[in-house]
Amino acid sequence: MVIGSMDEITSLFDEADPFKSWWPAIAAAVVGIIIAVRAIMSGQRCPNDNQIRDQIVIVTGANTGIGFEIAKALAGRGGHVILACRNMEAAEKAAAIIKRELSCQVLKDTQKTAATNDSTKDLPTSSSSSSSSSVNNDTGATNGNGNDADTDGGNMFFVEARYLDLRSFDNVQRFARKIMAEFERIDILINNAGIIFDPVKTNTTDGFEQHLQVNYMAPFLLSHLLLPHLKKSPNGRIINVSAHSHVSAKMDFDDPLNVGTWATKFHARDAFSHSKLAVLLATRWMAKELKDTSITVNCCTPGLVRGTSHLRSSPLMSAFCVRVMTYPWMWMFMKNPSQGAQSAIRLATDPKLKHVTGEYFNDCEIAVSSPLGQDKELAKKLYQQTMRILKIATKLEIDKGEEKENEIRIASAEESKAATAATSATPTPPPPSSSSASSTSADTSNIQQRW
Ligand SMILES: NC(=O)c1ccc[n+]([C@@H]2O[C@H](COP(=O)([O-])OP(=O)(O)OC[C@H]3O[C@@H](n4cnc5c(N)ncnc54)[C@H](OP(=O)(O)O)[C@@H]3O)[C@@H](O)[C@H]2O)c1
Repeated sequence: MVIGSMDEITSLFDEADPFKSWWPAIAAAVVGIIIAVRAIMSGQRCPNDNQIRDQIVIVTGANTGIGFEIAKALAGRGGHVILACRNMEAAEKAAAIIKRELSCQVLKDTQKTAATNDSTKDLPTSSSSSSSSSVNNDTGATNGNGNDADTDGGNMFFVEARYLDLRSFDNVQRFARKIMAEFERIDILINNAGIIFDPVKTNTTDGFEQHLQVNYMAPFLLSHLLLPHLKKSPNGRIINVSAHSHVSAKMDFDDPLNVGTWATKFHARDAFSHSKLAVLLATRWMAKELKDTSITVNCCTPGLVRGTSHLRSSPLMSAFCVRVMTYPWMWMFMKNPSQGAQSAIRLATDPKLKHVTGEYFNDCEIAVSSPLGQDKELAKKLYQQTMRILKIATKLEIDKGEEKENEIRIASAEESKAATAATSATPTPPPPSSSSASSTSADTSNIQQRW
């Protein structure tokens, strides 16, 4: 095409004027929507910077993912953080990374403060700016960014790794015993470790389905074993990580642990949601049991979180092309691990939650759980059955942590196995009758009456 005259050239430029087209507006709207959706999906950040100086914190499964972020945040707020992990190499590495990253942050803050002081040293100081941190009378914690601490980098942060494998009750007992011998009290226990999509037909050495033991029973045992030490804290806090998928869980009222039914009925996904519903219900009942103590027990869901190892056993997500195809959606609709850690961080640090117990948190606020997750009778039944089975399996007196510490002894693996056999010999809950599924929904409709 030959461009003839100057008029034609001018009209071509006119048509190319981006401001005469809708495309820039459409592109801006799309970018705006993406930013808004990501902001909404990322959830609320922990709404405070409270320090937890010198508090002793245990975070299970802290070598990676959400647990790592929780541990880092709490160490950054002055907590003595113990990473309770089954892979010691990964845990030691995580502890070193946390200390290094926090030290770098302190160094940066110090340099920034020094630069600001240099540029403002000739200016008159106001009385309000002379205090950079304020003491919170409720907890004795300091508010602010922690710059009141000494700034000697690596030694400033206490982060240590300890071996804990939740697949073994024996190991849980050994861990609890070691920690109680080493530390005089425990302030915060965060039961974060969890698995999904592991094979449901492979039992643990204690004879339980893996999701049930790792996500629910072993953390339940750990919490109870550590109660005597949590009671020594002015405000012991137990924080259990559940999941939103508890809403899809089914739980038979006559067999809440599903010890009689899981093997034949459950897909790994169902086993996961069942275990997370159990976490929620046991949290609620344990809070009631401990209402006369200074200990609070709450649980939270991290939301949907990308970039962790959680889906490593998922058959679907192990395919590279699926991971590539789903990445944009995950990026758009899921939280990053730090965002997923926020509810647990708030539960661990907020003095306003000192008396809040038995609640379920999402995005840093109390949230409504599924109707089954509010079923008081089911919670009681589950709690009692768990307690009974654990007492048999571990031969411990673990009720409300009232036993004397020296009574906590380690049951040998043989004893545990024998106990498991005894457990299966105890009146096995009847397999779900044809009415069991409907009894679940019927239970749902009767929940208000039960409470
Ligand atoms: N990611 C999500 O979208 C999501 C959603 C809802 C709930 N959650 C829950 O959030 C928690 C953290 O999940 P995440 O996404 O951070 O997963 P992750 O990256 O897989 O981390 C799980 C942690 O648990 C540890 N763990 C697994 N089995 C254990 C055992 N037998 N003993 C001790 N530790 C064990 C893992 O240790 P290894 O590294 O050695 O395996 C790892 O440190 C879990 O309870 C999970 O169920 C996550």
